Amino acid sequence: MADVGDLSLSGGGISSVAVKYGDSQLAIFHVPHKGYYATQQMCPHKRAFILEHGIVGDDPKSGEIYVSCPMHKKNFGLTSGNCLNDDAYSILTFDVKEEGKILVLLPDESDLDPVIGTSRWMVRQATAKVLDSGAQSVEIVGPPSESCSGGKLEW
Ligand code: FES
Repeated sequence: MADVGDLSLSGGGISSVAVKYGDSQLAIFHVPHKGYYATQQMCPHKRAFILEHGIVGDDPKSGEIYVSCPMHKKNFGLTSGNCLNDDAYSILTFDVKEEGKILVLLPDESDLDPVIGTSRWMVRQATAKVLDSGAQSVEIVGPPSESCSGGKLEW
């Protein structure tokens, strides 16, 4: 899934990386002297795929290591998944261990994708933006026919 080298351990600081599993995005963190942590990449507040970029801290009350979402500073425990400053939110967390590679214990893709799958939430986010803008419907416009080859899109 991810190599230890994907996390910049040589600097001695906290490091993180985003990885894809099926259609789901995960954030993996390495906290020196504490270990590895894995969570969903999507912040549940505004469905932003961003937690990998959050600041990691230590909750003075519970002692739990948390990631603070860079968007609106909701703090999620890297072990419990609980939001430490807003009970309305929580994230999925997963067991991780390092054996040369970083191993994450995950449910089947078919179980996880319906919950945190990227395409599911990206589509909903796009729809919400359109509806917020006052549009009544979404029109999907295809590419000009000359950019198609044999009925398939060229990437
Ligand atoms: S999007 Fe993460 S706190 Fe708002």
